[in-house]
Amino acid sequence: MCGIVAYVGEREALPVIIKGLKRLEYRGYDSAGVALINGELQVFKKKGKVTDLETQLNEQELKSNIGMGHTRWATHGEPNDTNAHPHYSLDKKLAIIHNGIIENYASLKQELISKGHEFISETDSEVLVHFIEDIKANNNCTLVEAVRLALTKIIGAYAIVIMSQDDTNTLIAARKGSPLVIGLGKEEFFLASDATPIIEYTNEVVYLNDHEIAVIENNGLKIKNTEDTPMTPYIQTLDMELEAIEKGGYEHFMLKEIFEQPRSVLDCMRGRLSATDARLTLGGIREYAGALENAERLIIVACGTSWHAGLVAEYFFEEFCRLPVEVEYASEFRYRNPVIKEGDVVIAISQSGETADTLAAIELARSRGAIILGVCNVVGSSIARASHEGSYTHAGPEIGVASTKAFTAQLTVLFMIALRMAQRKGTITESKFREMLVEMENIPNKIEKALKLNDQIEYISDLFKDKSNFLYLGRGYNFPVALEGALKLKEISYIHAEGYPAAEMKHGPIALIDEEMPVVFIATRDSSYEKVVSNIQEVKARKGKVIAIVTEGDKLINQMAEFVIEIPATNEALMPLLSVIPLQLLSYHIAVMRDCNVDQPRNLAKSVTVE
Ligand code: G6P
Repeated sequence: MCGIVAYVGEREALPVIIKGLKRLEYRGYDSAGVALINGELQVFKKKGKVTDLETQLNEQELKSNIGMGHTRWATHGEPNDTNAHPHYSLDKKLAIIHNGIIENYASLKQELISKGHEFISETDSEVLVHFIEDIKANNNCTLVEAVRLALTKIIGAYAIVIMSQDDTNTLIAARKGSPLVIGLGKEEFFLASDATPIIEYTNEVVYLNDHEIAVIENNGLKIKNTEDTPMTPYIQTLDMELEAIEKGGYEHFMLKEIFEQPRSVLDCMRGRLSATDARLTLGGIREYAGALENAERLIIVACGTSWHAGLVAEYFFEEFCRLPVEVEYASEFRYRNPVIKEGDVVIAISQSGETADTLAAIELARSRGAIILGVCNVVGSSIARASHEGSYTHAGPEIGVASTKAFTAQLTVLFMIALRMAQRKGTITESKFREMLVEMENIPNKIEKALKLNDQIEYISDLFKDKSNFLYLGRGYNFPVALEGALKLKEISYIHAEGYPAAEMKHGPIALIDEEMPVVFIATRDSSYEKVVSNIQEVKARKGKVIAIVTEGDKLINQMAEFVIEIPATNEALMPLLSVIPLQLLSYHIAVMRDCNVDQPRNLAKSVTVE
C-alpha cells in the first residue's frame, strides 16, 4: 500500500502533491511527507494524515516546480515522523519515496553500516536510497545507472520515485509489483500510485510495467527496463471523470458509493446484457471462452470482500454451469502446493487489481498452466494485465476503504460470466436464461428501492450502536452476504462481528447468544427460508435480539424479530445484490454514530500491495 505522487513542470509542485496525496490517502494514512527543491533538496514529513502535514507546510514559504509526496501504511517501523517518507541518502542529496517491501533490506543494511552508513529510520526504504547512493559512489556512474544497478539486486516489491539535489529537474521512477502511473501533461509530468491525482490535469497516461525505470528530465520521458533496454512508452487515454473521484455532496465516500450502486450495476451490464434481445456478450472473454466452457474445474482466488463475491460466484457456477468450484483465499493458495492441471481456469477477483497476494496467486497458477481470467475494477491494473482475459466491473473509482459498490459490480460480472458459460455449455434452458436476464435487468431499480430503507436502518443503528458483538447469519446465497455484513461492521465500526451459515450456529456460536447479542438474519424467501425461520426461533428462545432482512410482504418473521427490514423480491441467485445493501447501510450508520473514520478506518488500507 502507501500512496505516492510526484510532479515536475511549470506549476507549483506542492499544491499538486498535497491534493494528490489526499486522493491517495485510501492507500494508507499513518504518516505523510513531501520532498521539494527549495534551494536545496528539502524533506518535510509528519505522523498522521495529509492535512496535518499540510497545516505544518502552510506556515512556510515553499516554492518548487518539482516535488514528490508519500502517504504511508506502515510495514517496517511504527508510524512516526522518522519512519515517514521521503527518506534521504546519507549525504542528503537524494531522497526516495517507496511503496512496497524490500525483502533483503536487512542484509543490505548490515553491509551499508559496515561501510559507514548511518540510518535514522527503521524502514526498508531508507536502506534502498542509501544503497543507490553507495552504488553511485562506487561505480562513479549516473544516478539512473545507479538506480538500475540497485534494482537488479533488490528482492521484493516496489514503486519508487527518486529526486536528486544535483539534477533539479529530474524524477526517476521504477516499479516491480506496486503500481505506478505516469501522467503526460503539456510540458509537465505526474507520477502516482493510481490515476486519481492525475486525472484533473491530463488523461494521457502511461502505466509503468514491472522492471521498468522511467526517467523524466528535460521535459521528456524515457523508459528502459532494468536490463538497460529502452522501452517504448504505451500512452493510453483514460476515460475517467473528475466528479467520479469527489464526494459529490455526500458526507463520506462510502455513503456516496453505497448510493451509486443502482448506477454502477447498470454500468457494469451496459452493452453486455440485453433481456429484450436475450443477449449476453462479454467482450473481454473471447479467446478463452472455450477454455472456461471446457474446464473441468474452476478456482476462484481473491481477498477480503472480493473473496466473498467469489463465494457467491461458486453458487452461480455450480448452479448454472454444473462446474466444480473452489474458492481460495489468495494468501493461502499461493503458499500451499496447489494442484493445478493444464487447462484449469482461475478467476481472480480484485477491486484494485493490485492486491499482492492475489497477484502472486495468479502468477503461480499461470506458471502451472492455468488460464487466468481477471475480474477487476481498476482498468490497467496489475491483475488485469497479468490475466489472459477478463471482464472489468466498471463500477467507477471506489475510494471508501470498505468495499461496497465494487462488491455488487463483482457479483454482476460473475453472474454474467456464469450465465453466458451455462448458455454455451447447454446447462441452462433458454427460458431460464431469459428469465435470469430479465431479473438481472431489474436489479438496479430494486437496489434503488432497497436504498430507500436508509432512514429505517439509521434508526435501528442508533439502537444497536453501543453493542460490542454482532452475529450475522444466512444460508445458501445469503451465507456469503452474512460474512460480508460482518466484515463491513468490523472494518469501520470496530465492533466484533461474525458471519456464519445459519445452520452452523448450533455448533458453536449459539453459546454466545443472550439478551445482549444482536443477531442479523438474512432471511429472504428462498429455498432455505423455512430452515432459517427455525434458526430465528432458536435465537429467540435464547433471548437474542433479531434484526431480519426479509422479502417484502413477509408476515411470519415480522412476528418473531425485533426489527424487520423488507427488501424487494428477486431470484434467489440475485438476492445477494439486494440483501447486502441494508448491511452496508447498517455498518455505515453505526460507524458514523460511534464517531469512527468511515472512509479511512484504523489500520486498514484499500489497496494491499504487501503480502
Ligand atoms: C483490502 C480492502 C478490502 C478489499 C481487500 C481486497 O483489505 O480494505 O476492502 O476487499 O483488500 O482488495 P481487492 O482490491 O483485491 O479487491
